[in-house]
Amino acid sequence: MDRTERLAELRRRREQSLAGGGAERVAKMHEKGCLTARERMDLLLDPGSFVEIGTHVTHRARDFGMDARRIVGDGVIAGWGTVDGRLVYAFAQDFTVFGGTMSEANAKKICAIMDLAMDNGAPVVGLNDSGGARIQEGVLSLGAYADVFLRNTMASGVVPQISAIMGPCAGGAVYSPAITDFTIMVEGTSHMFVTGPEVIRAVTSEDVSFEDLGGAMTHNSKSGVAHFAVRDDADCVRHVRRLLSFVPSNNAEDPPRRAATDPIERRDPGLATLVPDAADRPYDMKDLVRRVVDDGDFFEVHEHFAANLIVGFARLNGRPVGIVGNQPQVLAGVLDIDSSVKGARFVRFCDAFNIPLVTFEDVPGFLPGTRQEWGGIIRHGAKLLYAYCEATVPKLTVVVRKAYGGAYDVMSSKHIRGDYNVAWPTAEMAVMGAEGAVNILYREEIARAADPAGERRRRVAEYNEKFASPWIAAELGYLDDVIEPEDTRPKLIAALEMLRNKRQTLPFKKHGNPPL
Ligand code: HXC
Repeated sequence: MDRTERLAELRRRREQSLAGGGAERVAKMHEKGCLTARERMDLLLDPGSFVEIGTHVTHRARDFGMDARRIVGDGVIAGWGTVDGRLVYAFAQDFTVFGGTMSEANAKKICAIMDLAMDNGAPVVGLNDSGGARIQEGVLSLGAYADVFLRNTMASGVVPQISAIMGPCAGGAVYSPAITDFTIMVEGTSHMFVTGPEVIRAVTSEDVSFEDLGGAMTHNSKSGVAHFAVRDDADCVRHVRRLLSFVPSNNAEDPPRRAATDPIERRDPGLATLVPDAADRPYDMKDLVRRVVDDGDFFEVHEHFAANLIVGFARLNGRPVGIVGNQPQVLAGVLDIDSSVKGARFVRFCDAFNIPLVTFEDVPGFLPGTRQEWGGIIRHGAKLLYAYCEATVPKLTVVVRKAYGGAYDVMSSKHIRGDYNVAWPTAEMAVMGAEGAVNILYREEIARAADPAGERRRRVAEYNEKFASPWIAAELGYLDDVIEPEDTRPKLIAALEMLRNKRQTLPFKKHGNPPL
């Protein structure tokens, strides 16, 4: 082969790699409203920054007619580039090539970028679109998945890992995203399931559609598997980029700080009237958060799951923080199984990646009932408690209203190493709310009274007078201060600045044993 022929061969292979599974299958993707793997990668990374590896890899299977079907790249595009100028490793499964399925050869590419990401300390983004293990490769493909899962696990807590689900993700394809930190699903076109509707029908006689079984909203609102539901592929990639803007490249770095334009001293007088006078009237915790953080910008995570607890990212004076807040608008802000698990996972992510935690507390306690008790609220609630106890990042807590019962301890209290714990004057801190407490303490007195209702009212008022305030906690030093609501932003920023170099270590251990 002379030089011209060699160059022609290179170009031919490169064109093949760009063509994926061919024009017909690409057209099908576009008809579905999806972008191709390359189009997705182009949108994800800064223009011109993508450097591909394993471009010319093909599978090695010989059986089932595969010998005759070799497609350059073998259904995964992998490499690195930048997002807002910062190094990111990424792979995109190409559904037009063998349904984006996992083969021995293409898994090696995914593993290679994960190894590079670990060695060089940068996030991994997976753009997933796959029929799962490639049937023709049998156990080779299962082994390939296991190679990826091992790396996902090794990378957990070392570099951020984000999974975008942009098409079907069946079988083994779901478990890699499940180990990663965040999962984003495209509404209408993405599905995740371990076993599909046909297998389910055969085994359990249940009739369920793809969408109901494993669509974006199912996993965002019911199972909690996914953290974001997005409109389309472009929106999905925008979410990945935005998420990356809050997180450091690896666990040895601080999160990326931005120049802030929102003044540090900005006081919002509206905060003083945000909490209603009646203790059982709701308000929107997200409104409170937006009024405090930079430019009202709150990037909510897990919005549709366990909405009685809100979690997400924001900035204070340009520094990324993880926000956790009870939401009085949903179930009065109680902690239940789902919200405990949601909160625990978010707290652990922030702690692993040096993102300070800011907790806004208004929690009447844990949700009572047999569904919760039998469902394991004890061990699930303990996950959130464990996560907060274990966290060594700066922890700031604002008790806005209720801090009752065990939930007081859990929500980043001073006792579990809260660094700066303050309350608004509207705070109520006690073992339980007045009605419950009075029933236990004065049941007989109330029953014996000439006017039981009046007696109950008097006892409730007496209890509230004593406990429904922040003052006992403040006098005991369980609170660092009781602040005016409008001072919340400057006070939090000052504390965050003070904690800038916080270093706290855990006792030596192989790893803890959280109540999973
Ligand atoms: C090989 C596969 C495949 C697979 C799809 N294809 N899944 N090839 N192995 N697992 C191929 C199809 O033959 C087809 O090839 C192309 O991908 C597109 O598939 P279609 O069925 O035409 O597309 P669509 O109708 O959109 O349906 C997509 C799908 C469906 C929902 C993903 O293909 C499907 O249900 N596939 C099987 C999913 C599954 O059960 N996976 C689990 C595998 S077991 P052509 O050449 O026509 O384009 C597993 C265990 C791992 O993953 C365990 C690790 C823990």
